[in-house]
Amino acid sequence: MASASTHNGVPLLFRYPGAKGRAIMAYGAAYKAQAAGVNHLIIPFAGSLAEPLWLLAEGALQDDVTLDVNDANPHVANLWRAVTTDGALLAELTRDLVCEWNEMPIDRDTRVAAFKALRGQVNQTTFSAAPTAGLYGSTLQAARFLLFQATGYNGLFRVNSAGKINTPYGTEKDKTPRQLNVEAHVQSIQAAVRLLDRCSVRVTCKDWRDTLVFDPGRAAEDTLVIADPPYHGTFSTYTADGFADTDHIELVQTLADAPCRAIVTNSPSARSLFDDRWDVSDHEVRRSIAPTAKGRGDAGEILAVKRVG
Ligand SMILES: C[S@@+](CC[C@H](N)C(=O)[O-])C[C@H]1O[C@@H](n2cnc3c(N)ncnc32)[C@H](O)[C@@H]1O
Repeated sequence: MASASTHNGVPLLFRYPGAKGRAIMAYGAAYKAQAAGVNHLIIPFAGSLAEPLWLLAEGALQDDVTLDVNDANPHVANLWRAVTTDGALLAELTRDLVCEWNEMPIDRDTRVAAFKALRGQVNQTTFSAAPTAGLYGSTLQAARFLLFQATGYNGLFRVNSAGKINTPYGTEKDKTPRQLNVEAHVQSIQAAVRLLDRCSVRVTCKDWRDTLVFDPGRAAEDTLVIADPPYHGTFSTYTADGFADTDHIELVQTLADAPCRAIVTNSPSARSLFDDRWDVSDHEVRRSIAPTAKGRGDAGEILAVKRVG
């Protein structure tokens, strides 16, 4: 069972489908070129937040940048809310939960039962609306989400049509369940807190359409949107609503027309959605998480950069 760690300088707080931590080097030059000079960065599909954390670790973002972090998955939004407003408590609670997990008897039946109890707790998370925007749970719930992602099957996050997480236990096939690395978990949280502290972060839990709000006082080249939506044509069950072909089409057209710079990453099957307002390039990237072993390893992706001017 892998633990939280660092990939290419990006603190990886949790394993997650589509996380870009391992793929970031393929896209890094484009991210840096587009981020140069921007003072507003919008991440509508945050997930593990690999792209802005990498830019921050590289010193490629201005110190005064406003960073909008959004995800429609309330567990993810609540996690980033906890990291940015309650980081010390999140680290402490995560340490306690991971230690408790490691102290449990190593037999499979005990671990499976504990995992199912944890999944029940995560599924019972109640999210309340914050005064500004979005839905938030507690910091304890954020720590439980981190433990859940570390112990579930291959970091998969998947919900059923009722919005309930149904990810199975991660080591069901292993004879001896492995222990989690407590310090790696705590240190990745602390590293993310330090990086995000350099900018002014706003966390929301909305549909991506509601995140594309542009300050009329800013020039288009001062705002960058980095969009990494659910993969076109494959896995999209992060939320009960899924992500349809029509959503992909609307995303690309909306960003092409919006007063901002924009980068979109996706599966090669999405290539035809981009017209001549975009430069599209092909990449082979490492995907560490996929619902099946066949889907892991290197995979083709496209990177689309909106042409400026
Ligand atoms: C491919 S993942 C992003 C991965 C991220 N780049 C990373 O490095 O971890 C896509 C994310 O979009 C979120 N999402 C799905 N539908 C959404 C919607 N309609 N609006 C906003 N976020 C959505 C999912 O919950 C998921 O976290």
